[in-house]
Amino acid sequence: MRNIESKIKQLIQEIDFHNSQYHGLDNPKISDSEFDQLVRTLIKLEHEYPHLIQPDSPTQRVGSKPIQGFTQVDHLTPMLSLDNVFSSDDLLSFENRIKDRLSLDKDVEFIAEPKLDGVAVNLVYESGKLEYATTRGDGVTGEDVTHNVLTIKSIPMKLNSIPPPKTIEIRGEIIITKKDFETMNNVNAKTGLKVFANPRNAAAGSIRQLDPNVAQNRPLKFYAHGYGMLSNQEDFSSHQDVIRFLRNSGIITSPYSTLVKGTSGCIMFYEKIDALRDSLDFEIDGVVYKVNKLSFQKDLGFVSKAPRWAIAHKFSSVEVESKIIDVNFQVGRTGTITPVAKLKPINVGGVMVSNATLHNMDEIKRKDIRNGDYVFVRRAGDVIPEIVSINKKKRGEKTKEIIFPKKCPSCESDIVRKDGESAAKCTGGSHCPDQIREGLKHFVSRKAFDIDGLGEKIIDQLLVSNMIKSTSDLYALDAEKIISLERMAERSTDKLISSIKASKAISFERFIYAQGINDVGLATSKALADNFPTLEDLINTDMHQLMNIHDIGPVVAKNILMFFAVEQNLNNIRRLIKMGVQIEYRPRHDNQILKNQTFVLTGSLTSMSRIEAQEIIENNGGRVTSSVSTKTSYLVAGKKPGSKINKANDIGVTIINEDQLVSLINNG
Ligand code: IVH
Repeated sequence: MRNIESKIKQLIQEIDFHNSQYHGLDNPKISDSEFDQLVRTLIKLEHEYPHLIQPDSPTQRVGSKPIQGFTQVDHLTPMLSLDNVFSSDDLLSFENRIKDRLSLDKDVEFIAEPKLDGVAVNLVYESGKLEYATTRGDGVTGEDVTHNVLTIKSIPMKLNSIPPPKTIEIRGEIIITKKDFETMNNVNAKTGLKVFANPRNAAAGSIRQLDPNVAQNRPLKFYAHGYGMLSNQEDFSSHQDVIRFLRNSGIITSPYSTLVKGTSGCIMFYEKIDALRDSLDFEIDGVVYKVNKLSFQKDLGFVSKAPRWAIAHKFSSVEVESKIIDVNFQVGRTGTITPVAKLKPINVGGVMVSNATLHNMDEIKRKDIRNGDYVFVRRAGDVIPEIVSINKKKRGEKTKEIIFPKKCPSCESDIVRKDGESAAKCTGGSHCPDQIREGLKHFVSRKAFDIDGLGEKIIDQLLVSNMIKSTSDLYALDAEKIISLERMAERSTDKLISSIKASKAISFERFIYAQGINDVGLATSKALADNFPTLEDLINTDMHQLMNIHDIGPVVAKNILMFFAVEQNLNNIRRLIKMGVQIEYRPRHDNQILKNQTFVLTGSLTSMSRIEAQEIIENNGGRVTSSVSTKTSYLVAGKKPGSKINKANDIGVTIINEDQLVSLINNG
């Protein structure tokens, strides 16, 4: 029996290896029929000895049933994004900032890689076993897409590394190669299936499906470019070490990953990849440079949502010439006035563009832009189109200087620009119609109150007809009022009324985010919701409390305090609650049954996932750590526990199973 078990394990290892050679590296080492033979042998053995089926067997990969809905999962460490540079000058400034911060006088060593245009995913391996996979989501919380990720054969269900790390979050991109994309689209066109616009859309569409059969039939590939949580990070001193470790563990990483020195090394790499770009079999939109030394990465940290130790050097995208017909000044939710050029409509890389941001007055001066100029317009990724430069040769006599207004175009209040700031702001605050309008749009948006069916046009009508003045007025709307609006019929009215009603139950963090406080995005809202038991506690907070929250700096803290100091904001919030908005607070972690107790989880749990177990423990005031020590109160052991159980026995830590965990919580 022992022999059979080891034969099965060996077959799994071989099949995993060949899967990764074939699907991941395009470098098959055996013929298709030899591969099929390996799989058939495994299936036969598993059939004869069903009790020896291993959970990581390739035969156990895909459940064919669609899932009911996506579960939200918090990442163990946030999934950051990257800031961009478009020029060598900006890149030099990036390296200089790093040198200044670290007091270095030598060139910085970077790992340079192509920037894949795919879908970011996070793979979580516990003791070497793929536990789950998530999308990036908002960077803090993603969606569980394990069922689809398991269909990607080049992603191993088990890491080869011995011993594997206790926990590792492997970060990378799911892509479809250009060749596979073309073949797939040709077949789809012939068979009447969906034809995709580009490989990225096809990959994203495949990962966000409830039914894993869809992803299984799409040629998805995964390339790792980094990690999030890594329990044995101290074993590595450089990013290159980690990449090497991932490769040795059976994870596919970029074959172009290169160690370069200083800005000049980066630029050489950029030029090489730019020249290769068309011949590469995957879509890229630039290159990424990451500081190689991990201790430097740690010292540099991150700001907002992007690390200070990495940057994306984007390829300049298509630039097209057009003409400025006029310049408008738009008022944002927080009063920032943005000059926007109205352009003669033009097709930029497949999208019709008729507006482009001019950012602010400094930019207009720097680029010497005048109303009526011929300009080069660029669209980079999903960002708002911008004017790169003007075509001076074509400048006629009729161009006009762009003059920044002194009064807000919406409410006529004064516009001020504080010293040292590039943004000019309307001082009308909650009296400014445009600020109110943008604030309402933010309030109803998907990540805030998520009121489906309440689009820009309806908001405009509601404002013009004076039916709403603030966000709390939305909850005083009734069918009679809504049906009186243009193009609203009975059915659409009913639908809107029920979305408004459904939006009343809202998590604390979304409630905070929806208020549109300056610089308070989703991540900050979550930090606030985690740190304040109730809304009243948040309203009554002070500078000291706010500054004690990780990631909240003095500017954001001041914005929060200023927001709650405005009587009108407070009245509106109180009215929201009076109108039936119910904030759902997360269970608090203090004064609870598992307070001061530390748990370690091992093995596979049956009645709940590891993440659920962790949540249950934390929601009852306990803490979960990854390794057993004398500080551990309990080791919760599931099936097939690893070496942690021996350590727990050695140092006398109490070992319990999941039922005992539940009764500990229920009975104290
Ligand atoms: S490193 C802290 N390397 O680009 C984030 N990212 O626009 C470090 N991406 O969120 C990311 N190729 O999903 C890195 N070779 C590469 C990449 C890459 C694509 C994605 C990644 C990131 C996004 C930012």
